[in-house]
Amino acid sequence: MSDKKPVVGILMGSDSDYGIMVEAAKILKQFEIPFEMIVSSAHRTPERTMDYVRGARDKGIKVLIAGAGAAAHLAGVVAAETVLPVIAVPIDATSMRGLDALLAMVQMPAGIPVATMAIGSAGSRNAGIFAARMLATEDLALEKRLLQFKQDMASGVIKKSALVQEKMVADGLI
Ligand code: RP5
Repeated sequence: MSDKKPVVGILMGSDSDYGIMVEAAKILKQFEIPFEMIVSSAHRTPERTMDYVRGARDKGIKVLIAGAGAAAHLAGVVAAETVLPVIAVPIDATSMRGLDALLAMVQMPAGIPVATMAIGSAGSRNAGIFAARMLATEDLALEKRLLQFKQDMASGVIKKSALVQEKMVADGLI
């Protein structure tokens, strides 16, 4: 475990969300951003959620990430209780395949914004990267890591294109 004080707080509505929310945690670890992750539900443990959010700023948290499925009020409830930026990750937890959570998160009324990502693991990864980008506005070393990450992704695409060319040759297409 990191001995540095967490600057990102990840909340998830249930332990069943862990498989998705761990993707955000992996990204934060990759960028050397100290974080903490807890289970707290807007519906099942409203007091616990409020207590955590009310104490977040004073203990050094700068960005909050909230992942939840179903009628996902977690991000909105969190954002209602703080002026810290809140990133929402909709999770596929019902027969509506995450659309329920997406709409609950993205359709916030004016005045209480949450930055809603895509449904599922891509959204969770992007939540981590988005948090990193926000923190990088005041952290040059982190900004450099993000630039390197972008460059590595671009190199990956060039490699994939070369692989596709090889496959086309092997398939007798060119
Ligand atoms: C939401 O309900 C949670 O965020 C989870 O995605 C979903 C199902 O929770 P469990 O019934 O698995 O605890 O509050």
